[in-house]
Amino acid sequence: MKISLNPQAKDAATRDALVAEGGFGKYYTDHMVVCEWNEKDGWSEPELKAYGPISLDPATAVFHYGQEIFEGMKAYRQPDGGIGLFRPEANARRFAKSANRLALPEMPEELFIQTVEALVKQDAGWVPNKVGESLYIRPFMFATEVGLGVRPSNKALYMLIATPAGAYFDPSKAVNVWISTEYVRAAQGGTGEAKCGGNYAASLVAQKAAAKEGCDQVVWIDAKERKWVEEMGGMNLYFVKGSGADATVITPKLTGTLLPGITRDSILSVAKDLGYKTEEVMLSIDNWRDGVASGEITEIFACGTAAVVSPVGTAKSAMGTWVTGGGQPGKITMQIRNHLLGIQHGSINDTHKWMRKVI
Ligand code: PLP
Ligand code: COI
Repeated sequence: MKISLNPQAKDAATRDALVAEGGFGKYYTDHMVVCEWNEKDGWSEPELKAYGPISLDPATAVFHYGQEIFEGMKAYRQPDGGIGLFRPEANARRFAKSANRLALPEMPEELFIQTVEALVKQDAGWVPNKVGESLYIRPFMFATEVGLGVRPSNKALYMLIATPAGAYFDPSKAVNVWISTEYVRAAQGGTGEAKCGGNYAASLVAQKAAAKEGCDQVVWIDAKERKWVEEMGGMNLYFVKGSGADATVITPKLTGTLLPGITRDSILSVAKDLGYKTEEVMLSIDNWRDGVASGEITEIFACGTAAVVSPVGTAKSAMGTWVTGGGQPGKITMQIRNHLLGIQHGSINDTHKWMRKVI
């Protein structure tokens, strides 16, 4: 890897003050990684260099046809002061799958992880120390061929940036959700399983509609039957049936239109480790509403890299409004959240070997 250090890297005191501010995506670390690809030569040697703007021709493909993908992953401070990445191989694999769907080149897993490790090592001082805070890492790739013809780009640019991240949502408050029956996120054969910018662009009008209803997030239902609960704007969903040791923790099945969340997958294991039954199910809006009304559904939470585990309280839709758990974070929700954070921060035994030590 080529290394060109940033001569204007922030001094430790300035950096620490920015990290202490918390928030999500407000400040970026001193460096970034870039790696070019073209059809003829494949991947170039990656370069770690000063974080900063890039210059692109106005006719660059990505601006016109949206050929872009990204990932979201985190580095966590460990009890010994070291830093660990959570399941980076899973992000590398999903990045390759997304690339495939968007006709972009697959980046080899080792190269992907090499770039992430290099940036985290270089900008280690930007990794917060508090539990629940972390360094959010954003790998992305886009089409850089210049020209307005609609075709798979013969050039691409991979970039990697990172931002210190506090809580995306305040976990002590439940998130209110708007179940969208007007817009659709993904259909079979579409790009729902891929992490591509276009999915998010198309979701923003629904996000706006949710805000108008006083809701924080959108819940998507399936495109065909318009009744099956899928996921949220940037998170997967979990429902708790029953309570105590007999509870079952359920999540919508991956039908090909949901993003297969790495947090979702991890929670299936964590919930089992904690002694709960788990199920991947088809859950309709009616099941949701009736389950809440009968008291069978006791807790709901959303999960994702940015959001970790966030309680969901009020669900609003064209079919009515219903509230789970009195709008308060549930016990099992918080137990799962704390267990997962414990593994990520190295205070709970990592029996699944999910953590990869960087330093
Ligand atoms: N669903 C969507 C649409 C997302 O954007 C995300 C965030 O990455 C997730 C689910 C959760 O995925 P993960 O747990 O891998 O972050
Ligand atoms: C993530 O959790 O990594 C996401 O991508 C969600 C959102 C910030 C887009």
